[in-house]
Amino acid sequence: MAAPKSLAVALLAIGQFASAWPHPPLRAQLVERQAVQEEYDYIIVGGGTSGLTVGDRLTEDGDYTVLVIEYGLYHNQTGMNQSRMFNITSEPNPELNNRRFSVGIGCAVGGSSIVNGQVMQRGTKPEYDAWKELGGPDSTWDWEGLLPYFRKGITLSPPNATIAEEYNVKYNMDYWGTETPIYAAYGNGSPAEVTKILYEAMASMPGMNIAEDSGSGENGLYWFPTSHIPETRQRSYARTGHWDNVPRDNYELVVGAKVNEILFDENLTATGVRFFSLNETDAEPVSVRARREVILAAGTIHTPQVLQLSGIGPSHVLDGAGIEVKVELPGVGANFQDHSYIPSIVYMWGRNPGGSPGGGMVGSPNLVAQVGLPVLSPDNYEAITTKYEEQDPTSHLPESYTEEQVEGYRQQQAVYARNLRAPDTTVNSMMMFGPGGSIQNLHPLSRGTITLDPENPQGEVIVDYRAATNEIDLEVMAENIRFVRRYMASETFEPYAPREILPGASVNTTEGLVEWVRGQIIPSVYHPVGSCAKMPREWGGCVDENLMVYGTRNLSIIDASIMPTIIGGVTQMTVYAVAEKAADIIKARTFD
Ligand SMILES: Cc1cc2nc3c(=O)[nH]c(=O)nc-3n(C[C@H](O)[C@H](O)[C@H](O)COP(=O)(O)OP(=O)(O)OC[C@H]3O[C@@H](n4cnc5c(N)ncnc54)[C@H](O)[C@@H]3O)c2cc1C
Ligand SMILES: *[C@@H]1O[C@H](CO)[C@@H](O)[C@H](O)[C@H]1NC(C)=O
Ligand SMILES: *[C@@H]1O[C@H](CO)[C@@H](O)[C@H](O)[C@H]1NC(C)=O
Ligand SMILES: *[C@@H]1O[C@H](CO)[C@@H](O)[C@H](O)[C@H]1NC(C)=O
Ligand SMILES: *[C@@H]1O[C@H](CO)[C@@H](O)[C@H](O)[C@H]1NC(C)=O
Ligand SMILES: *[C@@H]1O[C@H](CO)[C@@H](O)[C@H](O)[C@H]1NC(C)=O
Ligand SMILES: *[C@@H]1O[C@H](CO)[C@@H](O)[C@H](O)[C@H]1NC(C)=O
Ligand SMILES: *[C@@H]1O[C@H](CO)[C@@H](O)[C@H](O)[C@H]1NC(C)=O
Ligand SMILES: *[C@@H]1O[C@H](CO)[C@@H](O)[C@H](O)[C@H]1NC(C)=O
Repeated sequence: MAAPKSLAVALLAIGQFASAWPHPPLRAQLVERQAVQEEYDYIIVGGGTSGLTVGDRLTEDGDYTVLVIEYGLYHNQTGMNQSRMFNITSEPNPELNNRRFSVGIGCAVGGSSIVNGQVMQRGTKPEYDAWKELGGPDSTWDWEGLLPYFRKGITLSPPNATIAEEYNVKYNMDYWGTETPIYAAYGNGSPAEVTKILYEAMASMPGMNIAEDSGSGENGLYWFPTSHIPETRQRSYARTGHWDNVPRDNYELVVGAKVNEILFDENLTATGVRFFSLNETDAEPVSVRARREVILAAGTIHTPQVLQLSGIGPSHVLDGAGIEVKVELPGVGANFQDHSYIPSIVYMWGRNPGGSPGGGMVGSPNLVAQVGLPVLSPDNYEAITTKYEEQDPTSHLPESYTEEQVEGYRQQQAVYARNLRAPDTTVNSMMMFGPGGSIQNLHPLSRGTITLDPENPQGEVIVDYRAATNEIDLEVMAENIRFVRRYMASETFEPYAPREILPGASVNTTEGLVEWVRGQIIPSVYHPVGSCAKMPREWGGCVDENLMVYGTRNLSIIDASIMPTIIGGVTQMTVYAVAEKAADIIKARTFD
């Protein structure tokens, strides 16, 4: 343990830093008391979406004490704003004309859930079933195994019946819960009237499914809710649902504190963590002991950093940063994935369809089309999938990948090939607000890395999307554009004479489209996952089926980094469900 003196000094500083914030938090024991204890049952690293969910669950019976350590501060306001986010710029992406991108993730109490876009969606059944397949025969991480946790974790506030009838907003309460105050709500206003013709045109696309509920695990056309508190319209996020209003003596949170090392005993059992105050005048780190478990919830970008700084990770990265290797675990910071998108395929109406403007986002139900490859590209999906299946994965994976990691990717390749052909998984997601719109690739085949900066391991990590290192990712985007063109050419739109502005009629060959998308793709829709995957160790995984980090004891991961493959939908609801399941797993642990 660190000297008690430095502990007191550091916390005094943290207390001042945090209480300097204008709006006093509803509940902040540590800030009030300006002291952490030496020992807790559990220490959770990161007070974000998953961290606060699990903190709430582990303390609700009163049996255990929990300390959550959060880098960010309490914020009075919510919504996307750089003051509540990390400032990270990616490595250049050679296949995207060497462009660099800002890496958007939350840094505040509530984590990314305080800044996110509030869209509430789930992936499709086969996408969760893939997690089981990539986990092993006894895995419980499939759609059936997660559905109870989607129900437990999220309360649906159903749409207004009049609006639901008029706009065909389908929902089914069987997929939702009523207890936990994390809300998915439809708003009480009408959508824009133009959405009716968008709906009709999309519904007429050959093979388009109409889902029975936004959370039923189907793809296709549906109206989705947003994460807001129905009565007040205010953001519903991890802090409002799992921290504010749960006053418990056994649930503590320290803010403005960065964990930079996990402490181990000689047998690689995690015994605690070391953190330091963001207040740089105080350089002394603080050590706190965990009696039962250290739980990592620092998110996809920083959980690998905490592990690598602690000597758990690929030796080539650790050696480069001058860190002693405790466990050679190549998967830490590999297998990194995100959705990618093109913000705008631009069309103009020749004749404006008119109608009332509608509520939009939090104000009303919102329409989305989740489209699988066979519907997206009836002519080319088979050829694209076959080309992918026949690829040697080493042709596009990082050179540093070990044989185990290549084998893990090969397993993913088989699952992905099946899902690309499947009519019931999602590849493109189109939010429908007007003509044209944004397009996405929800299953990029390329894989990125997150590694320590050898020059400054304690500073920001190096985020390398390696976007479109597999050229099929560009081809899928080209197929997305062809889909938008067919959709915009549908009979429903004829009276409104839509005209394509971007990319424009002269971009009309596969080669032309591929070159165009190369200059347009943004490799993150703010949904980073996969950098500490739940897969067998012999397939390059980081955590086992019970979320324990390989090669260690009493150390687990509960955030978005454990998803072995990204789902075809925005990620927050899945993060809540994973965290709910993780909490049950942690509570049920038995030790030899
Ligand atoms: C701008 C944006 C828009 C998004 N839009 C949507 C959307 O509309 N719908 C949707 O479903 N999803 C959306 N997402 C994604 C979704 O919010 C995330 O997938 C989810 O919140 C991730 O949860 P997490 O627990 O893994 O990480 P986070 O919630 O990010 O929590 C990680 C926490 O760990 C803290 N931390 C990091 N390093 C350390 C350290 N060393 N020591 C202590 N603490 C540390 C961070 O400050 C952070 O609070 C969006 C995300 C962003 C950023
Ligand atoms: C940092 O700590 C010093 C010493 O405790 C204190 O004087 C100063 O106000 C703190 N700074 C912030 C931003 O809290
Ligand atoms: C903080 O939020 C409250 C409402 O919760 C508001 O009244 C107040 O003006 C806000 N303060 C700042 C500084 O934004
Ligand atoms: C971002 O946050 C800062 C600090 O809270 C605030 O001053 C600014 O107005 C915010 N910007 C936007 C666009 O909301
Ligand atoms: C990122 O930059 C903004 C200023 O634009 C700052 O307010 C914020 O604290 C920075 N985030 C971190 C994690 O340092
Ligand atoms: C539902 O929406 C209709 C039409 O906008 C409105 O007249 C009605 O008051 C709403 N019902 C409720 C219960 O809010
Ligand atoms: C580590 O394991 C060895 C062998 O089981 C045991 O003798 C020793 O006491 C353990 N050390 C600690 C700190 O628990
Ligand atoms: C590891 O966790 C188990 C179960 O909670 C606990 O009994 C044991 O003491 C822990 N080991 C250490 C070294 O803290
Ligand atoms: C395709 O684009 C080229 C210019 O790039 C143009 O000459 C040709 O007419 C276009 N073909 C079609 C069918 O639009």
